[in-house]
Amino acid sequence: MLDETATHIALHSDRAFRYCSTSADRGADTPDLEPPVVLQDDAHDTDERNPNALEATLHASTPLTSNRIIAVAAGKGGVGKTWFSISLSHALALQHRNVLLFDADLRLANVDVQLGLNPAHDIADVLTGQHTLKDVALAYGDDLFDVVAGRSGIGWLAKLPAKELNALGRTLADTAQRYDHMILDTGAGVGRIVRKMTGNAGVVLLLINADPTSIVDTYVSLKVALAGRPASDVRIVVNAADSLRDGIKTYEALRRACEGFLGKSPPLAGVIRYDPCVPEAIRQQASLLDVYPASMAATDVQVIARRLVETV
Ligand SMILES: Nc1ncnc2c1ncn2[C@@H]1O[C@H](COP(=O)(O)OP(=O)(O)OP(=O)(O)O)[C@@H](O)[C@H]1O
Ligand SMILES: [Mg+2]
Repeated sequence: MLDETATHIALHSDRAFRYCSTSADRGADTPDLEPPVVLQDDAHDTDERNPNALEATLHASTPLTSNRIIAVAAGKGGVGKTWFSISLSHALALQHRNVLLFDADLRLANVDVQLGLNPAHDIADVLTGQHTLKDVALAYGDDLFDVVAGRSGIGWLAKLPAKELNALGRTLADTAQRYDHMILDTGAGVGRIVRKMTGNAGVVLLLINADPTSIVDTYVSLKVALAGRPASDVRIVVNAADSLRDGIKTYEALRRACEGFLGKSPPLAGVIRYDPCVPEAIRQQASLLDVYPASMAATDVQVIARRLVETV
């Protein structure tokens, strides 16, 4: 299976290359099979429509990229980003860290749904200027950690222009100063908004599972991330593994592909086992660490959180 995956990546590496290349590096006769991805640190990009868009950023003193900000991302959807972001926030809070969980999935936000929260206000109210980020943060549990909810299905939110995205990045960087960790639950893939959100993060945790598609999509995401920000601190979390040993095998498949095609590979942040308690906790709209604190997945997330605290 692992060799098949490596072969699959090899077969797709040319496609991946084209996907990741700017038009400048593409051969003139190379057809545009995929939309070009602009390889630059989006946290510092410019808005061509409005040259003053970054004014606030340029005058601000807080760095836009902070190690306090940890983005949870994945090459494909449904790998467990939202569940993991919640559980990681909870695990860090149990280690007496002051945590803000921010729903950065601007298309299909569902942190509030998974936690059974009913936010009166959310990120949309911040972006329309009606409330500040601080105002819309809700406390989860007995003041365990703070949550800023997103909002699903709003066209303008999913298409937020560069100016507003830059301003949001600025707000996140400033807000992160008040917390030990800000966890960003991002949307799937390597689209513009995800790249912007991960551009603020000092650490990016890329979730992967054993599906060959997940491994290939993660490889493509890494190629984009490493090309845009070569010094990015990207770490891999293998989720829903049949066992810890299987999880390491999945990581090894990705590592070999990255070493072979990119010349470097991100370290492993940890492995989380497949655990039926996870969908059960989601059905109960509660954090896994509240309802099944001794479950396999809860234990694995706590190991990852402990390592993160030591290494961020
Ligand atoms: N370790 C695990 N064991 C069992 N099931 C899991 C595990 N991790 C995630 N799942 C299941 O995967 C599904 C998707 O989880 P989640 O919604 O967190 O993914 P996502 O990556 O945020 O999805 P999207 O891309 O749609 O935002 C959930 O139904 C959850 O129960
Ligand atoms: Mg999600």
